[in-house]
Amino acid sequence: MKKPLIVVNTKTYQKGTGKELAELYTAAKEVGAWIAVQNTDIRSAKRAGVTVYAQHVDAITYGSHTGHVLPEAVKEAGARGTLINHAEKKVSQKVLKEIVKRCKEVGLQTIVCADSIQEAKKIARYKPDYIALEPPELIGGEVSITEADPDIITQAVQEIPIPLLVGAGVKNKKDVQTALRLGAVGVLLASGVISKPKNSAQALKKLV
Ligand code: G3P
Repeated sequence: MKKPLIVVNTKTYQKGTGKELAELYTAAKEVGAWIAVQNTDIRSAKRAGVTVYAQHVDAITYGSHTGHVLPEAVKEAGARGTLINHAEKKVSQKVLKEIVKRCKEVGLQTIVCADSIQEAKKIARYKPDYIALEPPELIGGEVSITEADPDIITQAVQEIPIPLLVGAGVKNKKDVQTALRLGAVGVLLASGVISKPKNSAQALKKLV
C-alpha cells in the first residue's frame, strides 16, 4: 500500500493553538504528515520542519484589505499551501476560482474542500492540487466517511481528475487504509487527532 498523505487541520481547537502544538509538530515531522494551522502558527510549524498549510487565504493582492489573508504573506511565513472552502469557511464558486488562481500565481498549493461529488466536479475545473471530500454531516462525528459512505469515495475517484483526500470522522488506521484502498491519496482530519484523544502526537503516530 502506498504511503498515505495525512493532513491534520488544527482548526481553532485549544490543543491546536500556539504552544500546545509543539509535540504534534514533532510527531508530524516524524510520520510526514502535513498540518493546516491558524496563520499565527505558520512560522512555528515551519521552524519545526513540518509541512504547513494555512487554513484559508483570500483572493486579494497587496493593498488595503484589513482583516483579509494575503496569499503572499502566508507563503512568506512558510506555508506550502492552503486549505480553501472548508465547510466552516465556505466561499462562493466565483471567489473560490479567484483564490485558486491567486495561489497559483504566488506558488501556494491548494487543497479545496468539497461537500459533495457535485461540488467537487465544479471545483475540479479550477485545477487545485487536491480536492478534499468531506460530507458536512459527518464532520466531528464518531462515524467516518470510510464507514458511512465508502461508495462516495469510489465514485469521486472515478469521476474527479484531481488527487483526492477524504475527511470527516476519520480517526484510526483502518479509516486511512480504507481511504487508500478505495483510491484516495490520503485523509484530512481534525478531531480524531486534535480534540478527542488525550495525546494528539500519539494519535497521529497511530494512524500510520
Ligand atoms: O478539516 C477536517 C475536518 O473538517 C474533519 O473534521 O473532526 O471530522 O476530522 P473531523
